[in-house]
Amino acid sequence: MPIAVLLITDRPEQSVKLERLLSLWGPCDVVDLHRPVQGGPAPNRLLVSDVDLSDRIAVEAVRDRLAEHRRKGMPLLCLLRDQSARLTTQANAIGASAILPADLPTKALLDEIGRILNPGGAMPMQRQFVAASAAMADLLTAASEGGSLPVAALEGSVEAINRAADDRDLGAWLDMVWNHDDATYQHCLLVAGLAAAFAHALGFPESARKLVTSAAVLHDIGKARVPLAILHKRGKLTVEEFAIVREHPQTGYEMLLRQGAFAREVVEATRSHHEYLDGSGYPQGLKANEIPDIVRMITICDIYAALIERRSYKEPMAPEEAYSVLVAMGPKLDADLLRAFRPVVLSG
Ligand SMILES: [Fe+2]
Ligand SMILES: [Fe+2]
Repeated sequence: MPIAVLLITDRPEQSVKLERLLSLWGPCDVVDLHRPVQGGPAPNRLLVSDVDLSDRIAVEAVRDRLAEHRRKGMPLLCLLRDQSARLTTQANAIGASAILPADLPTKALLDEIGRILNPGGAMPMQRQFVAASAAMADLLTAASEGGSLPVAALEGSVEAINRAADDRDLGAWLDMVWNHDDATYQHCLLVAGLAAAFAHALGFPESARKLVTSAAVLHDIGKARVPLAILHKRGKLTVEEFAIVREHPQTGYEMLLRQGAFAREVVEATRSHHEYLDGSGYPQGLKANEIPDIVRMITICDIYAALIERRSYKEPMAPEEAYSVLVAMGPKLDADLLRAFRPVVLSG
């Protein structure tokens, strides 16, 4: 069951990132402290306050708004904008179960939320998913803003996805990914989960698993530069729009190359994941031996993911059918790898 979070804030515009992060745990209701309340309290599992508690009136307002939730014993996480004793006292006065700095790094915040919600450390898969998803958000935001990619976020994401693959429950991973409402995150996390499980099934050593999963996380990073109007277009793309989408492997490749912080295999996979062994792919029309194994694996996971993805406008394809589409692609894909991929996605 999704965990619902109630975020109370006096700065809704700045809290958007926090809201996105909290949404990873389940539906997140945002209450603007300065607006009248609508409806009764929702059945939330966690309360988060992002309010300036140095303002006495605001403290009273938060207390009033949360009174009923607090009576039900819901945990309250208070994010403070400075660590003064006065604010800490105020936070305690409104019944904070945990107090953290508002500018805490994403990972630390996630760890703390995980600790509050699962004191016994239950639901490891969900925690890994949340960590990977938050890292994905940081990577895509940095890529779309033209900044350098946060390497630590990538490593955190890869680590979380590989640990999830260790649990050998690809189905649970896919269920969580499908619940994600952003198509690009959904796709990248899906390809990454499949690739991690594929590398695990092939018995790859840890270093190679890291490369495969990193390549999967980053393979479509160039899409962060494709205008959203094109990326999210429901209907058929025009020839010009299609040409823009097809630039994403080269864009991503240049992005990673410029930063110089990524393994050669990862950079190659970003540029070449739409290449086919028979030379019919793009952007370079590479053939056979020009396409390394890691890239061949990402290509298989990428196509399979696109087929089984859930969208509001399309029914997902069943696993057996999706796998048979890959088989029907014949000389385009690596037959041995495709055979090895079968037990990863199909049981029996
Ligand atoms: Fe792609
Ligand atoms: Fe892709």
